[in-house]
Amino acid sequence: MNKILIGSAKDQRNAEHEYEFTLLDFERIKNLIYKRAGITLSSSKYNMVYSRLCRRLRINGCNTFKEYLNFLERVNSSEWEGFTNALTTNLTSFFREQHHFPILEQHIKNHKNQNKIHLWCSASSTGEEPYSMAMTMVQVFKTFSPPVHILATDLDTNVLSKAESGIYPLERLEKLPKDKLKKFFLKGKGTNTGTAKVRPELRDLITFRQLNLLDDTWPIRGPFDAIFCRNVMIYFDKKTQYKILKKFVPLLSQDGLLFAGHSESFQHAADLIKLREKTVYELVKK
Ligand SMILES: C[S@@+](CC[C@H](N)C(=O)[O-])C[C@H]1O[C@@H](n2cnc3c(N)ncnc32)[C@H](O)[C@@H]1O
Repeated sequence: MNKILIGSAKDQRNAEHEYEFTLLDFERIKNLIYKRAGITLSSSKYNMVYSRLCRRLRINGCNTFKEYLNFLERVNSSEWEGFTNALTTNLTSFFREQHHFPILEQHIKNHKNQNKIHLWCSASSTGEEPYSMAMTMVQVFKTFSPPVHILATDLDTNVLSKAESGIYPLERLEKLPKDKLKKFFLKGKGTNTGTAKVRPELRDLITFRQLNLLDDTWPIRGPFDAIFCRNVMIYFDKKTQYKILKKFVPLLSQDGLLFAGHSESFQHAADLIKLREKTVYELVKK
């Protein structure tokens, strides 16, 4: 049955909402998250933003979005973390964009004689990506203690703590081949039934840290043999992408590789990096 719509578009929007949420509130949120995290929100994200932030209003006892945003913008508001965490999209999976891992494997095999391999996963979300990198390294070096260090960073502190715990519901591991599951995970028992934990040896290869790719300075040192920056640049405009890519350049080793997501193309940074194969980039030699 068709719904009969009565009143203004604003009335109709808010009739479905527990909290008043105006276009002005939405614009304000768009500007704040852009400044804070570089994330651009299109107008199609109106309902998504409403549902993601409702919980923050409830937690902070705010009655309207306006009240919440005023509270958020107070100097040094501790709510920034909750606001940012709510607006990031964290979709990921083990060995996502599978074709990258044999490329990483071959690249590291070519550098096996180095003292230590340094890798950076720059939008690590709940950890599936850095753990997939770590599994690949264990396979390359045929040992659980390869000479490898992986830095895994993300802006979102919630996903970082999930990543650090290394505990996943079994459904998240369904697509992993049985041999990898057996080799790299410990099945939970008792209260942990239905979950699996990555082996501590794998976990020990990775350092998890919060890092905002938008920040002017990053407290890290290269050079990295490879940087994974996959499925995060899609949230940034070209200007922000360029600024970040420019900062990757001095952090990559001379023949280091930059792995991007399937729908990310960096033609606008052709002076910095060039496509090597299938969304894998290398530095432009100067
Ligand atoms: C869609 S996930 C991609 C995860 C993983 N790289 C993959 O491809 O499966 C995007 C991640 O980027 C993070 N992110 C968003 N803005 C960021 C920023 N400014 N700095 C660092 N991480 C950011 C989000 O928190 C989220 O975990």
